[in-house]
Amino acid sequence: MKNAEFHRPVLVDQVIAHLAIKSSGIYVDCTLGGGGHSQEIMKRLSCSGKLVGIDCDDRAIEFASERLQNEKDRISILKGNFAQLTTLLASVNIVTVDGILLDLGVSSFQIDTSERGFSYMNTGPLDMRMGEGAKITAEHVVNVYPEQELARIFKEYGEERYARSIARKIVQERARAPISSTQQLTDIVSSKLPFQQRIKSFARIFQALRIEVNNELDNLKSLLNQALELLNSPGRLVIISYHSLEDRLVKEFFKKQINPCQCPVEFPICACGKKPTMRLVTRGVVRPSTEEIASNPRSRSAKLRAAEKL
Ligand SMILES: C[S@@+](CC[C@H](N)C(=O)[O-])C[C@H]1O[C@@H](n2cnc3c(N)ncnc32)[C@H](O)[C@@H]1O
Repeated sequence: MKNAEFHRPVLVDQVIAHLAIKSSGIYVDCTLGGGGHSQEIMKRLSCSGKLVGIDCDDRAIEFASERLQNEKDRISILKGNFAQLTTLLASVNIVTVDGILLDLGVSSFQIDTSERGFSYMNTGPLDMRMGEGAKITAEHVVNVYPEQELARIFKEYGEERYARSIARKIVQERARAPISSTQQLTDIVSSKLPFQQRIKSFARIFQALRIEVNNELDNLKSLLNQALELLNSPGRLVIISYHSLEDRLVKEFFKKQINPCQCPVEFPICACGKKPTMRLVTRGVVRPSTEEIASNPRSRSAKLRAAEKL
């Protein structure tokens, strides 16, 4: 398989610039995917530099390992969940690093493989697990979760206006027969929506199920705290997110590190003594250019934020 077919990396120049790579440093790509970003990082490392690439998906590990096979001496590829970053790094005797990259979400390969069930545009089983670590499938969520819980997921993780009526319809339909394919789910969702609303709602419902199945928000929260501990000063944390829930978590986390003071606003000077642990290296968010979006439409929702450990 060719690189571009597996996944075309987004914001490559911006990732490299914001990582401010030291040629002899240790870097972690927590979302290796097809290895596109990793390959660019490797080009900037000398023979004493090192990269650790992590992914929870067997196919990504297989593909990236082959792509980066000439770099074997300077790269460790690990299968696992980045929520266990400290433990994964300890398994290769690494306790601190100079930069961490996260390019969240799913790869093109995952979306385009219909048997994985990520896309409402392909017919496939309702799976949506990024790796075997995920304990439940989307089929389980859709057929077992109580109506209220489904509505909550669609509202919170999908920001879907019609969350309650879609959840109600799912519960009615699954009483007749189990819902096991992406097609069945989109048919059910369609029946509750105005025609012009359908595609957007499919995207939101599928996003919500994917977040729930893969525990995406908790994984990200867990990673953020570990990343701060693992970074050397002035190491950089660079994160690309693709939906507002992830972006909000990253933004809030950075805000807390940059201004941790908990004193009431009326205090003229800080009395809590909490000092900043990071500084922002992006002003607001970095977005793909119109040229990048035109040549790779999947980059359109990407938002990059980066901060440096003090
Ligand atoms: C957008 S792709 C990354 C693409 C990559 N930057 C490239 O250049 O090809 C996201 C990857 O992160 C992986 N992933 C998502 N959540 C993960 C997690 N919690 N732990 C490990 N890998 C994860 C997915 O399996 C997927 O391969």
